[in-house]
Amino acid sequence: MRTLSYDELTPGLHQDRALVHLAAFGGIASPRSIDELRRRSNRLAEYVGMFAVEDDRVIGQVFVERLPYEFPDGPALLAGIAAVATRPDRRRAGVARTLLAEVLARERAEGREHAVLWTDRSWVAHALYERLGFRDVYSPPWVVGAPPRVPGSSVPVEGIRPATAEDCDALEELHDRACSERLGFRRRPRGSLSAWAAAGRIDPSATLRIVSRGGRLAGYAHIDRAPSRVVCGELVALSSSARRDLLREVGRSAEGRPVAFQHTLVTDDPHLLARRGSVDSPVSGRVLMAARLGRAWSSSEAIGKFATDDSRFVCLAGDRF
Ligand SMILES: CC(C)(COP(=O)(O)OP(=O)(O)OC[C@H]1O[C@@H](n2cnc3c(N)ncnc32)[C@H](O)[C@@H]1OP(=O)(O)O)[C@@H](O)C(=O)NCCC(=O)NCCS
Repeated sequence: MRTLSYDELTPGLHQDRALVHLAAFGGIASPRSIDELRRRSNRLAEYVGMFAVEDDRVIGQVFVERLPYEFPDGPALLAGIAAVATRPDRRRAGVARTLLAEVLARERAEGREHAVLWTDRSWVAHALYERLGFRDVYSPPWVVGAPPRVPGSSVPVEGIRPATAEDCDALEELHDRACSERLGFRRRPRGSLSAWAAAGRIDPSATLRIVSRGGRLAGYAHIDRAPSRVVCGELVALSSSARRDLLREVGRSAEGRPVAFQHTLVTDDPHLLARRGSVDSPVSGRVLMAARLGRAWSSSEAIGKFATDDSRFVCLAGDRF
């Protein structure tokens, strides 16, 4: 088995890679979307990821991102491990373990001190990550409420409009400004949102609502709508009135469906939905894991370093990768 970086893959191997991705996640990280991310942002590692190749076929992949993080003692750039997958007929033969070990060694050699990834506690990958030194540091809480009593209306709350692709950079700036006093995922890799929009990975007009005050951007909410429910995992506002209007817009857009809030929105505001009666969970299946490169650590050391139990910690829907 050989390991190659993204730019070392031939066109045929790129097709194989896309199939490995499809088989594992049901989607394709298309060369176009990867090119957009590389062109518009500094989110991906220069080598993008490592790919296991055997008999001229790709049998495994690991992508690597660069994520700013605010520790209590200052900022750092993390290695973000993403889209770990092994071709279904080549699993349990050490492919993922080999790729991950190589990526983590490379990241350490390049000066990164910590790596993070998202997974689900119930997936087999969780055991693999634990054996490589990753520890659970954060699991997003939920609060799910009954449909708003006021029926949804097709008219948006006044002053609120759907976002466009042109708003993406300003939304990233707004996020960083609103979170400037926070810890954790306080800054976003610049350009990610517009790259995702350009590549069709997100549709700003369908999922993002913007509120303005005096002609200036004052906040936005990410509203993920499905036929059975509405989920808001990111709501960022510069004032309490902008926040109130966005919350109203979340309720309005539910049009009678249950509404859920997620991530640090829930810990920031324990009263979300409380008046109507709601179900809440302090954790979900999904979990953020963190490794200290080159030195093992315990869960409590990892949580202490990542400050995920500090009230200043912020992690929103856009910080899932
Ligand atoms: C998770 C995944 C990447 C593992 O790839 P892999 O190449 O089969 O993993 P490895 O052979 O390197 O396994 C390493 C360890 O992971 C754990 N593991 C992997 N597959 C497992 C399984 N089916 N059951 C239990 N443990 C498993 C074991 O601890 C294993 O070590 P061991 O074989 O010494 O017991 C692969 O199953 C996959 O592509 N799954 C679908 C996509 C996915 O869930 N990705 C993770 C997203 S966070």
